[in-house]
Amino acid sequence: MAPPLIAPSILSADFARLGEEVRAIDAAGADWIHIDVMDGHYVPNITIGPAVVKALRPHSAKPFDVHLMISPVDSFLESFAEAGADIITVHPEAGPHIHRTIQAIKALGKQAGVVLNPGTPAKMLDYLIDEVDLVLVMSVNPGFGGQSFISSQLRKVEAVRKMIDKSGRAIRLEVDGGVDVVTAPQCVAAGADVLVAGSASFRGGPGRYAANIAALKAGEAAAG
Ligand code: DX5
Ligand code: ZN
Repeated sequence: MAPPLIAPSILSADFARLGEEVRAIDAAGADWIHIDVMDGHYVPNITIGPAVVKALRPHSAKPFDVHLMISPVDSFLESFAEAGADIITVHPEAGPHIHRTIQAIKALGKQAGVVLNPGTPAKMLDYLIDEVDLVLVMSVNPGFGGQSFISSQLRKVEAVRKMIDKSGRAIRLEVDGGVDVVTAPQCVAAGADVLVAGSASFRGGPGRYAANIAALKAGEAAAG
């Protein structure tokens, strides 16, 4: 099985040194940089906005995977696109017209992803699968890093993998929340090809980043 792409979530980075942290995690082998945007309304936490995404852009050439947990969302798509997002993922529950939101992301020339919360069925994708570049399955409820992996979501990953394969399109299948060296191989076995990892990427500080990412890719516990 091909190793998954690893998208470290900078929610677990040191916010006082965010530029350095992005450079360090990039150098350590991150494939994408996952940026969690929260508004204190759609989710019970507030994180970062487009100005921070723009400030971070010069620090890495890797794709910026911007996970929007904000409502309303449509009015902010352009700001995040201009700030340097490459992939923009949105929650169907965060706006009234998810299909329109996906079209708007694509019209901005960005890759569009749809996110399924733990309580949202795979069936939500029936009329979106032909439009999206990425499906993100949440394996925790959105809002915070460091939560425990919800194992029932593995069945959803399997179901989404079947839908993607049936579509015949090149659609990334990403899992986000509680991904560590134990759950990463479970996600890959279920069909995921991109893993978001916050705590598991940044734990132990910069000296550990490369080993942490290598362990997630290899699906085994990091030495030491
Ligand atoms: C949660 C975020 C996640 C979070 C993952 O709402 O979408 O990206 O940062 O953190 P860990 O990997 O620590 O569960
Ligand atoms: Zn996320």
